[in-house]
Amino acid sequence: MSAKQDSKNTWENKDNADYYEKVPHHVLRQYPIKGGLENGCDIDLIFPYIINTTSLIEAGAGYGRVIRNLIDRGYQGKIYALERSQNLCNHLKNEFHSQVNVICDDVQTYIPSEKVDAVLFMWSTISDFPKSQYLKLLTHTAKWLKPEGICIIETISHLLIPHNTGATFQQSYAAETEYGTLKGYLPSSEEIEAVATQLEFKVKKVPYQSETGRDRIIHILSR
Ligand SMILES: C[S@@+](CC[C@H](N)C(=O)[O-])C[C@H]1O[C@@H](n2cnc3c(N)ncnc32)[C@H](O)[C@@H]1O
Repeated sequence: MSAKQDSKNTWENKDNADYYEKVPHHVLRQYPIKGGLENGCDIDLIFPYIINTTSLIEAGAGYGRVIRNLIDRGYQGKIYALERSQNLCNHLKNEFHSQVNVICDDVQTYIPSEKVDAVLFMWSTISDFPKSQYLKLLTHTAKWLKPEGICIIETISHLLIPHNTGATFQQSYAAETEYGTLKGYLPSSEEIEAVATQLEFKVKKVPYQSETGRDRIIHILSR
């Protein structure tokens, strides 16, 4: 079903699980390369906010782009890489061995063994959730944080068309690929802010351009 046919946004985050189980890590990596994120220009911008943290959870760690860029920049805290795809988790374990704690679980139900200083949703991971799931998702992940903890949500401008799809309709897309369909929603900054405010977070917005000139925004949520 195309994004236009599914304009009521009837999909759920779990509908994308099959795609991420099947897509090879080297194929997934091509999108941030094209989009100008592979070298971590987003990580350079968030680094001042996390450099002194002792632990963080990356929600939806993918093939390890964020982890690699954190390690390369000398991040000293404990990294929990939370990823639902068993296939990608196996890749993360092979790639990073004991450098990070790879947790193969669902962001929506996972309960960490300790509270952390930061939760990261990078490279539009939030787009893997329909807008209707944002409040429940962020209510849940906010419980992972220490009282002074921050949540960072990185998004692409909702006015752009992501490289992994051909078109958007009312901020939604459905990318048909040989590994299955990937559905997504591109939230505006105002939509992120509205949910964050309901949870009593203050939001700092950092607009930036990726290395390939794509408009993107980092949202830093703190209390
Ligand atoms: C767009 S990729 C982002 C990868 C990484 N954060 C980065 O910046 O390079 C989204 C990742 O989130 C994972 N994901 C989506 N929904 C999830 C969920 N409910 N629980 C855990 N991981 C999830 C997907 O499997 C995928 O690997």
